[in-house]
Amino acid sequence: MIPLEPYYELSDADLDSRIHAAKATLGSACVILGHHYQREEVYKFADLTGDSLKLSRLASQRADARHIVFCGVHFMAEVADILSAPHQTVILPDMAAGCSMADMADLPRVQTAWQELGALMDVEQVMTPITYVNSMADLKAFCGAHNGVVCTSSNASKILQWAFAQREKVLFFPDQHLGRISAFNLGVPLEQMVVWDPTRKNGGISPEALRQAKVILWDGYCSVHQMFQPVHVEQFRARHPGIRVIVHPECCFEVCRMADLSGSTELIQKSVRESPPGSVWAVGTELNLVNRLKHEMPDKQIHFLCPTICMCSTMFRIDAQHLCWTLENLVAGTAVNVISVPSEVAQLAKVALDRMLSIA
Ligand code: 13P
Ligand code: SF4
Repeated sequence: MIPLEPYYELSDADLDSRIHAAKATLGSACVILGHHYQREEVYKFADLTGDSLKLSRLASQRADARHIVFCGVHFMAEVADILSAPHQTVILPDMAAGCSMADMADLPRVQTAWQELGALMDVEQVMTPITYVNSMADLKAFCGAHNGVVCTSSNASKILQWAFAQREKVLFFPDQHLGRISAFNLGVPLEQMVVWDPTRKNGGISPEALRQAKVILWDGYCSVHQMFQPVHVEQFRARHPGIRVIVHPECCFEVCRMADLSGSTELIQKSVRESPPGSVWAVGTELNLVNRLKHEMPDKQIHFLCPTICMCSTMFRIDAQHLCWTLENLVAGTAVNVISVPSEVAQLAKVALDRMLSIA
């Protein structure tokens, strides 16, 4: 294996030309996927870009590529591995590119929650587990094994609608904010939602409240999107009458309710791109995406919704050095940082992912 350290001695120009050269050598045997939050030095090399759902779909459609280099975070690469063909390898350029929200729910704690709920009601009959795609593969497998499903930021309402047609209750993890706003938009009142604290017995909720709740939300959140606050929306509206506010549904309930639009990173990008010249926007999502939109569309006024910098530090771990190192190792015949979900987990996780893809 070629070591990584020397790549940090290279200039930006050298890195660029070496990445171009490695890509050219690998040709269609390698496809680079780039999530919208990736930094520009990496994003510009992506063959395909998108939000989590789009990238999962694209990964499953590129059977010609033996190697899928996923410039995103760990759970996304796991999904690509689960949905891709057995002859394909999925590579995450830096293994430390995780998602702090995904880490807020883990299988033992979700199993404990399921058992505790099972002591109060017939969970298999009354409850559907839904995991946001920002979760570990074994939680997707848990959903696959319990008639549950995966959702993403672009289809959460549709998935919830499907779940309520199957059973009366939902256990939604790990992102409480996405679960809350999506259920609320379907007409579930906030009084019928409770937040499950995984550090406490019965989630810290009384048995009576659990029996009455329609939606049990895991106490998880994205620390990046938590930074956007109602006061920021108010300030922009006061300063720029007519401004449109668009946010990611990982923002808190109040911010999503105050915004004109909320949706996935793909929807945010599309909405701003398709707006007429002169449009004024405040965008509540990760900084790299907002800066890209600003740069691409100087004919529009695009503001970052928060006065402080909200960046996803784990997405940022994928840098040009890691990308170059990954590609040159492939050229030399070594696949580094391969993401390989154990087959028993992958099979069940695929059940929940396929269910999502067929519903939405
Ligand atoms: P999208 O699926 O909208 O791209 O979101 C992924 C994510 O991690 C947002 O924080
Ligand atoms: Fe995870 Fe938040 Fe980063 Fe998205 S922005 S990958 S939810 S930590």
